[in-house]
This record gives sequence, C-alpha cells and structure tokens, in this order.
Amino acid sequence: MASVAFLGLGVMGYPMAGHLVHKGKHKVAVYNRTQAKAEKWTAEHGGIFAPTPAAAARGKEFVMACVGNDDDLRSVTLGSDGAFATMERGSVFVDHTTASAEVARELAEEAKKRGIGFVDAPVSGGQAGAENGVLTVMCGGEKADFDKAGPVIDSYARMVGLMGPAGAGQLTKMINQICIAGLVQGLAEGIHFGKKAGLDIEAVIDVISKGAAGSWQMENRYKTMNEGKYDFGFAVDWMRKDLGICLAEADRNGAKLPVTALVDQFYKEVQQIGGNRWDTSSLLARLER
Ligand SMILES: NC(=O)c1ccc[n+]([C@@H]2O[C@H](COP(=O)([O-])OP(=O)(O)OC[C@H]3O[C@@H](n4cnc5c(N)ncnc54)[C@H](OP(=O)(O)O)[C@@H]3O)[C@@H](O)[C@H]2O)c1
Repeated sequence: MASVAFLGLGVMGYPMAGHLVHKGKHKVAVYNRTQAKAEKWTAEHGGIFAPTPAAAARGKEFVMACVGNDDDLRSVTLGSDGAFATMERGSVFVDHTTASAEVARELAEEAKKRGIGFVDAPVSGGQAGAENGVLTVMCGGEKADFDKAGPVIDSYARMVGLMGPAGAGQLTKMINQICIAGLVQGLAEGIHFGKKAGLDIEAVIDVISKGAAGSWQMENRYKTMNEGKYDFGFAVDWMRKDLGICLAEADRNGAKLPVTALVDQFYKEVQQIGGNRWDTSSLLARLER
C-alpha cells in the first residue's frame, strides 16, 4: 500500500484514480482543477481532495497525472502550486497525459534536480480501458523509477512496458497513433465503398474481420460507423493534438509520415463539420457528406 496523489479527474483519470483505491488498495488524494469533480470522486471512492497539485502531492510516494497537453502538464508540475514544489526526494511523478517527448525530457530534468523520479507513461485503451482497468501503458524513464512505479500503475493496466529513457513512452504512443490514423481511414473507406456497392456491411465485416483485414478498430467500431454514431469514444480534438505531436516529432527526426499528415487534414474537415468531440471513427462521416 502506497500513498498516492492523482491529478486530473477527466474521462481517463477519474476511473484510473478509482482503481488505485479499489484494486491497488492505495491511500489516495486527488486534485482536479474543477473542484466539483474532485468532490464527486471522494464521495464515491473515499480519500481526500486537495485545492492545488502541490497540496495533493505533499508527502506522497507517488504522484500520477492525466491532464490535457504539454502546457497543462507544466501547470500541474511547475510553479509554487505545482506538484514538484512539495514532492520529497525519492518520490516518483508518473505522467499519463499524451504529450510531447520534449516536455517529458524537460520535466524529467526538472524533477532530477529535486531528487524526484519522473516516468512519462501515456496510455492506450480509451475510456473503456480506463474504466475496466486494462490500459496499455508505455513508459520512459530510469529503470529504478519504473520499477518503483510499475506495481502502482498495475492498478489500472493490463500491459506496462519500459521503452527507454525519458520521452520514450511518448515516442511509443506517437507510433500507436500513427498506426491508428491510417488504419481508421482505411476502415472508413472500406465501409463507404461497401455501402456504395450495395453490400450488407454486417455480413461483410463478419467475414473479413476473421482474415488479414481484421483489427481492434474493425471489431470495436464497425457497428457504430455503419449506424453513423460518433457521440462517444476518443475525441477528434484529442486525435488532432496527438497527430500534431507526431508530425512535429517527425520534422525533428526526419521520418516521412505522408498518410498521417493527410489523415490529420481529414480530421480537420471533421472538426469543420462540428465533429470536435466525435470519436475518431467519424472519418466515415466526412466521406458520406
Ligand atoms: N479519452 C481517451 O480515450 C484517451 C485515451 C488515451 C489517452 N488519452 C489522453 O489522456 C489525457 C486526458 O484525456 P481525457 O479524455 O481524460 O481528457 P478530459 O476528460 O478532457 O480531462 C482532462 C483533465 O485534465 C484537467 N486539466 C486540463 N488542463 C488543466 C490545467 N491546465 N490544469 C489543471 N488541470 C487541467 C481537466 O480538469 P477540468 O475537469 O477542470 O477540466 C480534466 O481533469 C489526454 O492527454 C488524452 O490525449 C485519452
């Protein structure tokens, strides 16, 4: 049993922090910018909520965070109200935000100056993965910090891996998003084509999902895509943030990502038709307009 603070009770963080209590049996304090969510969380799970990241982090062995982007992450770690201000030497900060590799390296360095460990640990598995405690977690950092934090992360994960030094978790998540982008566009085009051809999409997917075209996206998204339902899941706004991070990193390391860049523009068009919060499978809605 460890003392843990969790910062950011959003779609992902809220259930993740709950698993720390119920599965991990840890002693948990939470912080959320909008305090009403923290009050709701403590009413449901026990523990305490704090008014600032610094107050939540004080005296904790581990501080986990899951906020929006690089700047949000800086705002909960740095400064007088940030978690780093009160974390003690030997404690470990674990960041589950999907952010850049650069911010991970920057914060790992800041943490090191204070004797704090830092692990960048973005997740895959979506809202359902967080609620069911079966996320895939890709980590970057020093092995000693990873070894300490791993058993705590296990509270909401099915797969946890150390991919390399600080930033390597975020780089791995970028590969995850690059692989998803082209695949979802392919799935959208396949369903679009099938409808135009007058085929029964249910029957088509039933057959081809068992062959080489099968994928997590096909299994989990074809039904809602076929019905034109997108009001759930992983938001297009988040995907564009992630693809922006991938494309910026590719500019730095020289990787060529032509399809990823194109699909990013397709998502921009989905935003223009009002799909900011739609699931990423809404690439089909763009084709059907
Ligand atoms: N949703 C998914 O399926 C999914 C899957 C994998 C990875 N991710 C990644 O996980 C992260 C969180 O996603 P989510 O879906 O949980 O987002 P979300 O529901 O929008 O929650 C974001 C959380 O961050 C907090 N926050 C944002 N900016 C902040 C700031 N400047 N200072 C303090 N707190 C701040 C928000 O507080 P308030 O309540 O006050 O707004 C909220 O608790 C993102 O990086 C996302 O890309 C999401």
